Amino acid sequence: MHPALNIAIKASRKAGDIINRSSERLDLLTIRHKSLNDLVSEVDKAAEDAIIDILRGSFPDHAILAEESGKSGNSEFVWIIDPLDGTTNFLHGLPIYCVSIALMQKNTLQVGVIYDPTRNDLYTASRGEGAFLNDRRIRVSKRDKLIDGLIGTGFPFKMFEHDTAYLAMLKDIMKNSAGVRRPGAAALDLASVAAGRLDGFWEIGLSPWDMAAGALLIQEAGGLVGDLLGDNGFLQSGQILAGNPKIFAQIITIINPHISPQLRAISKKLIQ
Ligand code: IPD
Ligand code: CA
Ligand code: CA
Repeated sequence: MHPALNIAIKASRKAGDIINRSSERLDLLTIRHKSLNDLVSEVDKAAEDAIIDILRGSFPDHAILAEESGKSGNSEFVWIIDPLDGTTNFLHGLPIYCVSIALMQKNTLQVGVIYDPTRNDLYTASRGEGAFLNDRRIRVSKRDKLIDGLIGTGFPFKMFEHDTAYLAMLKDIMKNSAGVRRPGAAALDLASVAAGRLDGFWEIGLSPWDMAAGALLIQEAGGLVGDLLGDNGFLQSGQILAGNPKIFAQIITIINPHISPQLRAISKKLIQ
């Protein structure tokens, strides 16, 4: 097992405990708007602090990129952390949220952990060693026709500049698949693709911490991850498309006509 995986598991479980305890008293939480529809509570912060404490305890020299506290340190190793993915669901008592932690070395994802504290489901992957759900090997689905596929997505909810392009994609995927789901926690949606529960997924406007661990899980489960054109660079552009190899290719064909010049031109944000 990759030495960092154990520590990431420990950190994700600790964050999960904090989240579970707070889920019993949602009325006590103070909620702040970071921007329109972008909420944060003290739980996000407490979970992130606990994760960083544990990671720093074992890897004091590694850099960190975390949703609530940003970037710190300078190293070829970067931990990419979403302490609570699906905050809006969490704050409404809708039990679809998770913790997501990944380790990247020189732009290559090495370790990924996604922990769903509502089900005590632990998804883990390390490069070259496969993907697991609670210690059982997982693989992407074998479904080979999009028309039979269940596809996950995320709706635009805080920035609406790509809504026309997105809605055109959604309409065509709705018409050409068995169904579309918007569960509300992108990292968990990617874990569902890795576990073969969803056949594909796409979203526009994500951050590296929403995608990093889930992307490695999918690759290690035999799936493909790319941007909307199927190319690399999704961690930088925030546009992600994932699925089993057959469904991935079919989604590209369906959404391609709707990729606007603005989407194509999205500037690459550097994360290291
Ligand atoms: C959000 C969730 C959601 C996705 C958003 C993310 P957060 O993360 O993953 O499913 O649609 O784009 O920002 O804010 O709950 O950590
Ligand atoms: Ca997130
Ligand atoms: Ca979050």
